[in-house]
Amino acid sequence: MASLNSTMVFPILVLLATLMMVLTTAQPACQHPIYCVGEVLHTVQLSRVFNDSKTFVDMPMRYPTQIILNNFNLMVNASHDGQPSNAEIMSFLANNFLPAGYEVQRSVPTDWLPEPPFVERVHSPELREFGLAVHTMWLNLSRHFNLTGLCEECHSSIPVPNPFIIAGSRFHEYYYWDSFWMIQGLLVSDMASTARGMLLNFASLFQRFGFVPNGGRLYFLDRSQPPLLTQMVSEYYAATEDNALLEQLLPLLDQEYQFWMVNQSVLVNSLVTPGKTYLLNMYNVTTSTPRPESYAEDYTNAQTLPSIERQTFFYSSLASAAESGMDFSSKWFEPGSINLTTIQTIEIVPVDLNTMLYANEKRLAEFHRMVGNVSMQAYYLNQAAIRLSALMDVFWCEQDYQWYDFHLDTMKQNQQYYITNWMPLWSGIQNDLPQYFTEQLVDSLVKTMFPMAMDYVGGMPTSAVASGQQWDFPYAWSPLEYFIFDGLQQTNSTLANFMSMDIIQRWVTTNYCGWKNTLVSQGGMMYEKYDVTQVGEPGGGGEYVVQDGFGWTNGVALYLLNNFGETLKFQDCNSL
Ligand SMILES: *[C@@H]1O[C@H](CO)[C@@H](O)[C@H](O)[C@H]1NC(C)=O
Ligand SMILES: *[C@@H]1O[C@H](CO)[C@@H](O)[C@H](O)[C@H]1NC(C)=O
Ligand SMILES: *[C@@H]1O[C@H](CO)[C@@H](O)[C@H](O)[C@H]1NC(C)=O
Ligand SMILES: *[C@@H]1O[C@H](CO)[C@@H](O)[C@H](O)[C@H]1NC(C)=O
Ligand SMILES: *[C@@H]1O[C@H](CO)[C@@H](O)[C@H](O)[C@H]1NC(C)=O
Ligand SMILES: *[C@@H]1O[C@H](CO)[C@@H](O)[C@H](O)[C@H]1NC(C)=O
Ligand SMILES: *[C@@H]1O[C@H](CO)[C@@H](O)[C@H](O)[C@H]1NC(C)=O
Ligand SMILES: *[C@@H]1O[C@H](CO)[C@@H](O)[C@H](O)[C@H]1NC(C)=O
Ligand SMILES: *[C@@H]1O[C@H](CO)[C@@H](O)[C@H](O)[C@H]1NC(C)=O
Repeated sequence: MASLNSTMVFPILVLLATLMMVLTTAQPACQHPIYCVGEVLHTVQLSRVFNDSKTFVDMPMRYPTQIILNNFNLMVNASHDGQPSNAEIMSFLANNFLPAGYEVQRSVPTDWLPEPPFVERVHSPELREFGLAVHTMWLNLSRHFNLTGLCEECHSSIPVPNPFIIAGSRFHEYYYWDSFWMIQGLLVSDMASTARGMLLNFASLFQRFGFVPNGGRLYFLDRSQPPLLTQMVSEYYAATEDNALLEQLLPLLDQEYQFWMVNQSVLVNSLVTPGKTYLLNMYNVTTSTPRPESYAEDYTNAQTLPSIERQTFFYSSLASAAESGMDFSSKWFEPGSINLTTIQTIEIVPVDLNTMLYANEKRLAEFHRMVGNVSMQAYYLNQAAIRLSALMDVFWCEQDYQWYDFHLDTMKQNQQYYITNWMPLWSGIQNDLPQYFTEQLVDSLVKTMFPMAMDYVGGMPTSAVASGQQWDFPYAWSPLEYFIFDGLQQTNSTLANFMSMDIIQRWVTTNYCGWKNTLVSQGGMMYEKYDVTQVGEPGGGGEYVVQDGFGWTNGVALYLLNNFGETLKFQDCNSL
């Protein structure tokens, strides 16, 4: 299955040639002397004059770099023992910088309509009102960068041609994987034009950098995020049948696939067949410095480690976990540990990332079939067949009915519960191996999920470990809930469909109650994450206060109201 036949060699050579061009023009990760490296960053961040390390790196500069550096040196020279006080630092910041997010301005989406057709499909009047309110939040979350009056190097934004949806609160720029769920919500809201603009933004970023960065800031240039651009185009195409855009973007999707296969991959030995290897994907950022937007936290934690090598491993694993979007989770720690300093992302081959690549391979084969490119279609079908073997060989555990992450240091699966253990269902793997995934086997798999999927009032927890990290127990996140209920929907098991509807009902209810309970006091909150043990309560943990807004929560809520609005029941929040 793994051998290439001659029809596949040609497209690979063409792709590699294209890729070399992309790579040689790609810019190195950020070296900006204010926002990414250097003394100013170090001093300001370690002073902790702001609670949130992200605040400083989002503040535009009033003057060019040389003037700011000079003003900084003047302040240091004038201070006692060369150690500026927090008051001196605050005064330096006020004189030399503008407020965080100054250059990110509201933008009114031109395709927003007050009465989107989807609300008709929602039977419960309470949920219909909720759906309309969430739809209206696009107006609060739409932005564009306005760089008027700022010199080119004087801000950390990465400009893009079209307006975009932000996640909300401290996340006042675009993000890569968040946009997958935002685009699904926009499509439900009949805002295909805004969605199209966001796809073109990502295309422009890919052309500029040779990969899609984590988000719209220079300090994100050392990493990407879960590769969902192909899936975004797929959702957009399903809603619009915009063939022209598909044909325009397809070459970039091919190149993005090669970025992951060339730059973010590792050879893993088969656990079943001696001598067989698979080229699989991992999050692997190499860096010897703190993440600028979490500088104080990263630096302080690194000081507990005994050597430069250990610190570099730590910084690289932090940035790689940030690349996964799941920062942070005990999923990335040494199995059994809840101490962040044991983070070892760069030793882990995650099942969720490889599931996304599998879904992309199948989708790209389909896209090439549609445009009539037979050799590329054959290439991706072959890649998908290899990935399918790998998913069943390296990650699947037959006794436990789930797919575990694979750890390179021990050459073992991490056999602990994470919600991502069932993400392959979302790629439709059960339908690709119908002889293996019999109804009986799928039912056993569903029963294995029962305790985590059914026991909590507010959804399915991300893990079983209360580590204090935000991607752990008892917190739940829209994107991961989505992969689970969507995957369960794609099985033919009655039991799976029942469980999926049950999760969906609880998820919509906790979203609804979080909004309803705060409607009078705060205008109705949509949180970035929820606590599965309490209906309507936001999640906690992690390195910053809970955020509201919130792009992907809204996108998934709209998707659910649109698809299941006829069956979803309104539940009184006071009785839960
Ligand atoms: C910073 O955090 C502390 C403790 O969490 C809080 O008391 C303080 O009000 C916060 N300051 C700002 C400026 O948000
Ligand atoms: C700060 O002091 C150092 C050493 O005394 C000196 O070399 C430098 O020129 C001074 N910088 C400024 C901006 O005054
Ligand atoms: C949305 O924006 C409007 C206008 O600025 C504001 O009045 C409203 O409170 C915002 N709603 C939320 C939920 O942030
Ligand atoms: C950009 O911001 C400036 C003020 O900084 C404002 O005058 C201008 O109208 C804005 N442009 C757009 C396109 O919003
Ligand atoms: C991918 O790897 C190549 C070769 O190792 C490197 O030159 C290139 O900069 C990397 N591409 C990106 C976008 O980081
Ligand atoms: C991760 O990337 C670094 C630098 O490119 C490389 O040396 C290392 O081998 C990669 N890790 C794995 C497991 O492939
Ligand atoms: C985590 O590990 C670090 C480094 O070994 C250690 O300094 C720290 O005390 C540990 N933290 C906890 C909460 O155990
Ligand atoms: C198929 O796609 C490859 C890679 O984009 C391209 O080089 C080739 O010309 C295409 N073939 C056809 C028949 O369109
Ligand atoms: C499930 O049903 C779909 C059609 O709805 C079919 O294509 C697929 O093969 C079925 N899967 C299994 C495992 O029976």
